[in-house]
Amino acid sequence: MKVLVVGAGGREHALALALSLDPAVAEVHAAPGNPGIGEVASLHDVDPMDGAAVAALAASIGADLVVVGPEAPLVAGVADAVREAGISVFGPSRDAARLEGSKAFSKDVMARAGVPTAGSRTCTTADEVAAALDAFGAPHVVKDDALAAGKGVVVTNDRDEALAHAAGCERVVVEEFLDGPEFSLFVVCDGEVGRPLQPAQDFKRIFDGGRGPNTGGMGSYSPLPWLPDGTVELVMEQVVGPTLAEMRRLGAPFVGCLYVGLALTATGPRVIEFNCRFGDPDVQPVLALLTSPLGELLRAAAEGDLGSVPAPTFADGAAVSVVLASAGYPETSSKGDVVRGVGRANGVNDVDVIHAGTSLVDAPEDGDPGHRHLVTAGGRVLAVRAVGYDVEDARTRAYAAADLITFDGLQRRSDIAAEPLGVVEGAASRG
Ligand code: AMP
Ligand code: GLY
Repeated sequence: MKVLVVGAGGREHALALALSLDPAVAEVHAAPGNPGIGEVASLHDVDPMDGAAVAALAASIGADLVVVGPEAPLVAGVADAVREAGISVFGPSRDAARLEGSKAFSKDVMARAGVPTAGSRTCTTADEVAAALDAFGAPHVVKDDALAAGKGVVVTNDRDEALAHAAGCERVVVEEFLDGPEFSLFVVCDGEVGRPLQPAQDFKRIFDGGRGPNTGGMGSYSPLPWLPDGTVELVMEQVVGPTLAEMRRLGAPFVGCLYVGLALTATGPRVIEFNCRFGDPDVQPVLALLTSPLGELLRAAAEGDLGSVPAPTFADGAAVSVVLASAGYPETSSKGDVVRGVGRANGVNDVDVIHAGTSLVDAPEDGDPGHRHLVTAGGRVLAVRAVGYDVEDARTRAYAAADLITFDGLQRRSDIAAEPLGVVEGAASRG
């Protein structure tokens, strides 16, 4: 089959790599992709936000499956455009993507489906916000209702900071604080059936020890040796089943990856958020360990036929991804800094360098007119992903390979996957 991956980040690179390993996948294409994806896929200069253009590209290359990676095109209805063109697409409709596109909608769905989650209030005025902050108490959790690339959430003990964040948003959701280690569960869904992948953990804060502002994710690992047996089954039963049923009832069946972000609290797993796509970098180690064919799985989901393929399987051992970010991230990012050492790092056994924000620029000063340099082109630039015998081994390998890569202003955490209990980003260190 031919697969078109829509997007340009680390998630799409990890997907393209895993798809290229599926013997049933003859060709991988990407729109627009990035320099790393270009090593395993044909790149097409098409705007991922333009549904008609994506559908036209899919038709012209004879794609059997389109996988829409990021949330922005999903929320904008790009999957609908592809589906209307009669092409199988893995990714929710615009209506179903509201599970991520609106925090208030997703809280409503959770409430109606009886999903265990934090108590919350949706607020539009400063008085409502103040009342909600007092009702739930500190630590305060204030979320911008709109899409904010993982950066619209403030968790703080400082009431003034919570009020100030709310004042900058049109509508916010104020929540009860959930205490416990976080984890991500990616569930491949066909609208009715959900198939969980192996859980992962994402380190969201910019600095070591879970300090500093939230980012889109600075590193991840899988599996989670500390997660109690039976947790995935519990989440499938208490969260995923009821949510898929409620989405069907609303006439917006969820086809794609339901990303369940959870906290393992004293009273069991509770949902922090839903996203409508794979998480990045959290899905990177998961895909590194996947041993069953990804193309077949995603196509079956897209075609409402998940029941016909076996459950996904994973290799023993573990995988770790360490993100290399550019100067200024997450507030800003730096473009055009020359990146060195990617080839060497990629050449290390069991290591993949995943591209997120990179581009190639002509570098004729080297004397070779065709010579090009890899440069930074975004906040998260690369991730170094390694597979090992266990989390510690994978982590050691990832950092050894990451040490080979340099660019001006490089930021990375030194403690990704270092805490086996996974409580690094936990309550004590937040805000
Ligand atoms: P979200 O965009 O909803 O995932 O929030 C970003 C991050 O804020 C999460 O990964 C958590 O670390 C934190 N967070 C969000 N909601 C809560 C909550 N109710 N309790 C504790 N931490 C939260
Ligand atoms: N790593 C968090 C996200 O993808 O939203």
